[in-house]
Amino acid sequence: MDCDRNSLRMIASFILGVGVTLTLVVLYQAANFDDQKSLEKLSFANVTGGNVSLANGSVNVTHQEPSPFQDLAPLLREVADDDGTIIMTSVNWAWAQQDSLLDLFLQSFQTGENIDHFLKHLLVVAFDGLAFERCKVVHKYCYQLKVDMDFTGQQGFLTKGYIELVWAKVELQRYILEQGCNFLFTDVDIIWFRNPFKHITVYADMTTSSDGYIGDPDDINNSPNTGFFYVKSSNITVQMMRYWHDARKRFPPHHEQAIFINIKQELVNSLGIKLQFVDTKYFGTFGQFSTDLNKICTMHANACVNGLGAKLPDLKGLIAYWKNYTALPIEEKKKGLFTWSKPTNCRL
Ligand SMILES: *[C@@H]1O[C@H](CO)[C@@H](O)[C@H](O)[C@H]1NC(C)=O
Ligand SMILES: *[C@@H]1O[C@H](CO)[C@@H](O)[C@H](O)[C@H]1NC(C)=O
Ligand SMILES: *[C@@H]1O[C@H](CO)[C@@H](O)[C@H](O)[C@H]1NC(C)=O
Ligand SMILES: *[C@@H]1O[C@H](CO)[C@@H](O)[C@H](O)[C@H]1NC(C)=O
Ligand SMILES: *[C@@H]1O[C@H](CO)[C@@H](O)[C@H](O)[C@H]1NC(C)=O
Ligand SMILES: *[C@@H]1O[C@H](CO)[C@@H](O)[C@H](O)[C@H]1NC(C)=O
Repeated sequence: MDCDRNSLRMIASFILGVGVTLTLVVLYQAANFDDQKSLEKLSFANVTGGNVSLANGSVNVTHQEPSPFQDLAPLLREVADDDGTIIMTSVNWAWAQQDSLLDLFLQSFQTGENIDHFLKHLLVVAFDGLAFERCKVVHKYCYQLKVDMDFTGQQGFLTKGYIELVWAKVELQRYILEQGCNFLFTDVDIIWFRNPFKHITVYADMTTSSDGYIGDPDDINNSPNTGFFYVKSSNITVQMMRYWHDARKRFPPHHEQAIFINIKQELVNSLGIKLQFVDTKYFGTFGQFSTDLNKICTMHANACVNGLGAKLPDLKGLIAYWKNYTALPIEEKKKGLFTWSKPTNCRL
């Protein structure tokens, strides 16, 4: 399935100037239920390097550089589900190599409760050539993000390389929305146990996991963790991603989550974004550790200051507990007595 049904409208509003938008929105609506036909009609508009002219009369519109992510479009169409939703994670070589985070992450879809079908909709974004090659060995949908830096090594939290990486990711995510795809981004140091979409509503433009959850999904004072968040594709969410990226300039250099925290109130007040936070009972973190195995959907090895060498055994440990839990008879599970103990390798 592809995301074109949404994306035609998006093309109209983002590439074209106001005057032209009207024309193409009409074309789009007329052809709403037949993507192929509407694409043919769209070719009526001649798009050259981001400039658009209509067949009968030239229209000058704002010049736009072609997106550096254009080559992702065909892959997006392949990986999106019937709803136009993709799941996305990102890796560098350190995380993608054998027996590292990527392997564990992929394995968690097999040990989890009926979630292996999500692998068909998972896009793995590689930050370097080695990660890309390794990705292709273990997964079908891999994309290499071209960035002008060497990201092969283990990027320590808040190093310059890491910061550039996460900002490139924000740009890529906006492109995905512009293509009409919704996305659920998941860090690769998150293991999956259950279907997280159960806790994501159609109401919200953006649903995010929390570092600190204070009991109310609507409360802006919740502390977001943008290592796991969902965004619905729409005009307003494309603007949101652009706003987020541009906000980087207004604050001292930092990673995307820190800047998001600075602007979360603005996003709600100025853009009208409907933002929801999910309880750490469901989208767990090492920081606010969740112990209810009847509820857990995902677990994030966040806040682990001593790195990969500690995360791996801690996450593996949780999978071992999970396997024992899933082997229990249903009545035993319902009692809610079986739990796991807190990871011991990571220093928080
Ligand atoms: C689109 O515009 C370019 C540049 O003006 C021109 O060379 C090309 O023939 C046009 N294509 C169509 C299908 O009109
Ligand atoms: C698009 O328009 C801009 C501004 O008029 C111009 O500089 C640029 O060369 C055009 N690009 C193409 C591919 O025609
Ligand atoms: C543009 O072309 C369409 C289809 O060929 C035609 O119906 C319409 O009258 C034209 N508009 C102008 C302003 O020439
Ligand atoms: C489009 O822009 C070019 C250069 O900016 C200008 O020479 C041309 O007259 C414009 N055409 C229209 C139809 O406005
Ligand atoms: C998208 O949002 C902008 C800003 O609010 C608005 O001007 C534009 O008309 C919207 N486009 C569509 C297609 O809704
Ligand atoms: C899982 O169950 C096996 C068999 O009862 C036991 O040996 C093992 O310690 C358990 N592991 C965990 C992590 O609970």
